[in-house]
Amino acid sequence: MRALQIVDLTGPESALAEADLREPEPSHPLTPGSGVVIDVHAAGVSFPEVLQTRGEYQIKPELPFVPGSEVAGTVRSAPEGSGLAEGDRVAGCCLLGAFAEVAVAPDFLTFELSDELDFAQGAGLILNYHTAYFALKHRGRLSEGETVLVHGAAGGVGTATLQVAKGLGARTIAVVSTDDKERVAREAGADQVVRSDAAWKDEAKELSGGGVDVVIDPVGGDRFTDSLRSLRENGRLVVVGFTGGSIPEVRVNRLLLNNTEVVGAGWGAFVMGKRDVNREIGAEVNRLVDEGFVRPIVGARFPLERANEALQLIDGRGATGKIVLELR
Ligand SMILES: NC(=O)c1ccc[n+]([C@@H]2O[C@H](COP(=O)([O-])OP(=O)(O)OC[C@H]3O[C@@H](n4cnc5c(N)ncnc54)[C@H](OP(=O)(O)O)[C@@H]3O)[C@@H](O)[C@H]2O)c1
Repeated sequence: MRALQIVDLTGPESALAEADLREPEPSHPLTPGSGVVIDVHAAGVSFPEVLQTRGEYQIKPELPFVPGSEVAGTVRSAPEGSGLAEGDRVAGCCLLGAFAEVAVAPDFLTFELSDELDFAQGAGLILNYHTAYFALKHRGRLSEGETVLVHGAAGGVGTATLQVAKGLGARTIAVVSTDDKERVAREAGADQVVRSDAAWKDEAKELSGGGVDVVIDPVGGDRFTDSLRSLRENGRLVVVGFTGGSIPEVRVNRLLLNNTEVVGAGWGAFVMGKRDVNREIGAEVNRLVDEGFVRPIVGARFPLERANEALQLIDGRGATGKIVLELR
């Protein structure tokens, strides 16, 4: 099968090389001896793959390896009792191995793909939307009628968070850096949009009538303190990622003074092996698809052999929505 491998750690421009590899066995490292084999139509590209080309991600497989954590395609074979059968359209999270014509995902991370979504949209469903639901609901304890501020709101996690928050009955304020990203955030359903290089904290406080209830932060960096200041009493700042490049530190007296919380949301670490949690999140995300709230925004599509361009787009802060490789 055709596949792409990371062959060295020289960065997104040069670390990838095409390879002709044997098709994988129906076995996944998380479920040894068992796995859903998927004919890949589309593979999602995300920030971790950029980091992996430099050896900077927490998962550091031996070189060479096939990167790519999620796919959409059709089931070639599925374990008994998985509820999946040959030919089903699915979205699957394989953790590694997605940049290939055939990939294997654990059954508990493979979900039926609604006919409402095409394969490219399906390749942007699990990582971003399951994270968004987990961050908002499980960690942020979001209630209907609350206000959510979303950083990096035109990105993959950001657009997903805007849509899921809307589906959960929240009001949303998007933080973005450019006109183009403002357009994407509005397309994703943002009620209000503020600019990261302006007085966004003051604007968010005014727009929310005194402070937001939840901040979802995939960016981190030096805006963290202002995120804390933008919360109302009982507000929750949910830490999702650090695309801004630095990991912020918090002076905890701020939390005491304003009765606020900082909460971590690590979707992958939490849901691995937890069948019931995955089933619940999968069902909730599919419900939001059926109700029309969830429609992954595909920002750019590349053929497999141009994956380095996809990675550079993300690396250069130029990506909007989900970046996807199309294989079939
Ligand atoms: N915790 C979890 O479970 C979990 C799950 C999935 C992903 N993540 C993490 O979430 C983060 C976001 O992922 P994503 O797929 O949404 O990424 P993305 O599509 O590339 O979006 C990231 C956004 O970050 C903002 N940003 C600010 N400074 C940046 C910089 N120096 N370089 C690049 N972007 C910058 C950009 O928005 P502006 O230009 O508008 O500021 C950009 O749109 C990543 O760190 C990822 O690893 C965490």
